[in-house]
Amino acid sequence: MSIISDNNDFKSEKSLHKGNKNPVIKPETIEADKNFENSIRPKSFDAYIGQTALKETLKITIEAAKKREQPLDHLLFYGPPGLGKTTLAGVIAEQMGVNIKITSAPALERPRDIIGILMSLKGGEILFIDEIHRLNKVAEEILYPAMEDFYLDMTTGKSQTVKTLRIPLPKFTLIGATTKAGELSGPLRDRFGIIHRLEFYTEDELAQVIKRTAGILNIEITEEGAHAIARRSRGTPRIANRLIKRVSDFALVKHDGKITEDVANESLDILKIDTFGLDTTDRCLLRLIIEKYDGGPVGVETIAAAIGEDVRTIEDVCEPYLLQAGLLQRTPRGRKVSPAAYRHLGIIDMDINDQKSLF
Ligand code: ADE
Repeated sequence: MSIISDNNDFKSEKSLHKGNKNPVIKPETIEADKNFENSIRPKSFDAYIGQTALKETLKITIEAAKKREQPLDHLLFYGPPGLGKTTLAGVIAEQMGVNIKITSAPALERPRDIIGILMSLKGGEILFIDEIHRLNKVAEEILYPAMEDFYLDMTTGKSQTVKTLRIPLPKFTLIGATTKAGELSGPLRDRFGIIHRLEFYTEDELAQVIKRTAGILNIEITEEGAHAIARRSRGTPRIANRLIKRVSDFALVKHDGKITEDVANESLDILKIDTFGLDTTDRCLLRLIIEKYDGGPVGVETIAAAIGEDVRTIEDVCEPYLLQAGLLQRTPRGRKVSPAAYRHLGIIDMDINDQKSLF
């Protein structure tokens, strides 16, 4: 297959990508952003924008639990990063009027980590475990009876004198969050009463998130400015909130501080975030498949090695949006780009053209 490309080819994207290891557009949490995220987190269902169907279901579940004077069933949220799983858990705690303890599976490496947090819980409290698919086997085994019957089995002594102590726990609610529901073990998944997927946000929903954040931060923004940022936020509020800060800096330094459509577009162009919300890593990945592997299929390990990213980042961060945007396809033999990706990158696939000229 021969390819005609604009001058922004794989090599030049790759060199850009190398110097851009912590892009503003990646939806994972960045440590420095945590305080900012916490300060703008909505605390009620009314303030929480998007995920409408899920919100309605949760409101009913919460109402029923309150009427029964019982804790909420254990809940599992799954979906790409940055869509508001932690935020939603916080809203649920607020609506139930209970405390929430937030941790993540990698922080529960030793048995005493999970035992400690379980024993610190008070009746009705919520335990939120992020990245729950990364929980190790031992921690999972400790969690099963805690989730199911609210007790801990602890062993003391050695070999012949070993004794098992059964320690009761207060009734609590576990909210698990994962970007990879498929990697959760069957027995753990089965212990969640409620399982929900979070969806990417629409442009309108993201524009509302952006206007809400702008209001909190005292940033002046027009409706069109909010939509311009929303379009390039890859369906993800965490990215939208990060972009508004960058665009606001740009508006302040280069203009009069107000974010209009032109100011937003100019600023996002400078950040190399294109009209689909793709950054240099995404474009580098698509170009690699097109220019080096004839459009695919090619294995994710090969892609990772070629663009210098790790497989987890590609699978968890880049791919969900590229798949959703219809630019990439997953096949049993590897990843393939779609014709839309060729068009988006301004690359003409000569095979497609040759075929057209036959008619
Ligand atoms: N900030 C991040 N996610 C949000 C949401 N869903 N609604 C309002 N503000 C948000």
